[in-house]
Amino acid sequence: MAQRIKSMSAISDIFARSQTMLFRFLADTFFANRYGHRAVVLETIAGVPGMVAGMWIHLKSLRSMKTGYGPLIRELLAEAENERMHLMFFIEVAKPNWFERILILTAQLIFWNYYFVLYVVAPKTAHKMIHYFETEAVLSYTAYLELIESGAVEDTPAPKLAIDYYGLAENARLSDMVRMVRADEARHADANLGWAEKQGSETPAADHQTIKQMHRWSEFAMGANSEAEATTGIQDVSHQRKASPR
Ligand SMILES: [Fe+2]
Ligand SMILES: [Fe+2]
Repeated sequence: MAQRIKSMSAISDIFARSQTMLFRFLADTFFANRYGHRAVVLETIAGVPGMVAGMWIHLKSLRSMKTGYGPLIRELLAEAENERMHLMFFIEVAKPNWFERILILTAQLIFWNYYFVLYVVAPKTAHKMIHYFETEAVLSYTAYLELIESGAVEDTPAPKLAIDYYGLAENARLSDMVRMVRADEARHADANLGWAEKQGSETPAADHQTIKQMHRWSEFAMGANSEAEATTGIQDVSHQRKASPR
């Protein structure tokens, strides 16, 4: 029995790693080192898993009529919100071209359904896959940061939204923002590994940093003088500036 569990776990790991390698290959093929555009497209996908998993656990709690799922649901939804905010920052840095917009639409259609089925059938594998995705995101943002620090990519002022969201200094730069985003991705990687390992225990560990960030942002957004999205209404910022080369 123990041997069977061990081999199932190995298969799950191989699957999660191979999916990550496939996505990495696709990202490298489409974007190479155009990290701003890479971030925009990949963050539209990164916001999916937390929402799918949070929705599924919410439904599980409803149909099983069991309490105790709240912290996990909140953290998964907070992760999705955190990823959506990453997208809003990077859309200020790089505007997607028409091809990338089609890619985003297609990817969302496929990835939402794919991840939903995977999560229902094999939640441990699904979380493990996201752990590997997030680990790749950390590497990708590290490479982006190196380009900025070397001067190959201009260290422009950080978007106001990112300054408000992270509570950065008013003169914060793109490099400061990328460091914060990278720290978020590292936290997501750890959280998803924890959820994968705790599958079935019904007592999943929660790192409350992501929830705290969501609450901090909600309070800020409700503040009287904020320029946060809650007080400025729905806007399409993806057309407002000319696309940057990266
Ligand atoms: Fe992200
Ligand atoms: Fe992430």
